[in-house]
Amino acid sequence: MATVIGISGSLRRGSYNSALLRACAELAPSSVKIEIASIREIPLYDGDVETEQGIVEPVRELKERIAQADGLLLVSPEYNNSLPGVLKNTIDWLSRPPSDIPRVFGNKRVALIGASRGRFGTVLAQAAWLPVLRTLGTNTWFGPRVLVANGPSVFDAEGRIVDEATHAALVKFVSGFADFVSAK
Ligand code: FNR
Repeated sequence: MATVIGISGSLRRGSYNSALLRACAELAPSSVKIEIASIREIPLYDGDVETEQGIVEPVRELKERIAQADGLLLVSPEYNNSLPGVLKNTIDWLSRPPSDIPRVFGNKRVALIGASRGRFGTVLAQAAWLPVLRTLGTNTWFGPRVLVANGPSVFDAEGRIVDEATHAALVKFVSGFADFVSAK
């Protein structure tokens, strides 16, 4: 069975992006396991900390999980028509030292989805991530896009998907990404 590390770029308790990630994990076919990793313990990147302490433990742990996984699923909010700093900060830490980038991210099968409160469902955030993924050398999947708009009408108070079209899109997405990750 293939393993995918799933990361939500929101720390909010009622996060739509975290709810979307949980739904992906639940809908994953038997060929793939989506393991949800938290970024809550990742500190703000500080070059002095890196010089004095090296790669801090929560970053080291997450790096190893990604390096050993077959795929990475990024579930990103959109902030100010771009990518959110909380998640970018995590990726920046994970890219240190640069000599480790090929081992952690090189050819890693990556998919990017997201949910927002607004009408455009993170389309600009997803576009803003592309140069980052290009720089890291990931093998990014460009299957059907998942742009979840109008979060409050898609998820209920417990974060379950109540919108049928979103559910159907997610089933298609998870199945396609599972095939992409599992392909030899
Ligand atoms: C937002 N939000 C937002 N939404 C959007 O569709 N386009 C945007 O540019 C922005 N910009 C933005 C900036 C900042 C600083 C915040 C805090 C929020 C709204 C955003 O979609 C909403 O807060 C989501 O609920 C965030 O995702 P989570 O936390 O629910 O996963």
